[in-house]
Amino acid sequence: MGGSGSGRGAVKGIGMGIGIGRSGGNRTVLITGVSKGIGRALAIELANRGHTIIGCSRTQEKLDSLQSLLTTNSNHHLFLNTDVSCNNSVAEMARIVMEKKGGPPDIIVNSAGTINKNNKMWERNGL
Ligand SMILES: NC(=O)c1ccc[n+]([C@@H]2O[C@H](COP(=O)([O-])OP(=O)(O)OC[C@H]3O[C@@H](n4cnc5c(N)ncnc54)[C@H](OP(=O)(O)O)[C@@H]3O)[C@@H](O)[C@H]2O)c1
Repeated sequence: MGGSGSGRGAVKGIGMGIGIGRSGGNRTVLITGVSKGIGRALAIELANRGHTIIGCSRTQEKLDSLQSLLTTNSNHHLFLNTDVSCNNSVAEMARIVMEKKGGPPDIIVNSAGTINKNNKMWERNGL
């Protein structure tokens, strides 16, 4: 996705149907995996269009750097250190989101790149 120009068309095309393709947006969008790659690019683009970003990943310094990059309305955004492969971590994120935002996000984009070993679900930790 890269810089500010590339990817705009794709975001617009996908976003029009769910109301994030326009500027002056007012959606709350939770994006997992915002520290780099697609998740980070999407967070920056949607924040620039006026949407509120709730972002998570595991690398605190990258979350801090994204927070300071999004200076406009940065108080509206929320960046949380969360490991989406850990149930307790996700539950804690949900608790904080409900507490700080007063309800669930309008849209969730699961962009965190995780590859899990094949496992029987009932043998996974915490399930
Ligand atoms: N790039 C492509 O061309 C492409 C094509 C098709 C599909 N995809 C899929 O699209 C998704 C994003 O791709 P990408 O290229 O943007 O990946 P990426 O650059 O590797 O970024 C992955 C993001 O996910 C976060 N992450 C990884 N494991 C996590 C975990 N357990 N908990 C929370 N955050 C986690 C990483 O942050 P931390 O390490 O800081 O946690 C990082 O912010 C992936 O699922 C990928 O398989 C990508």
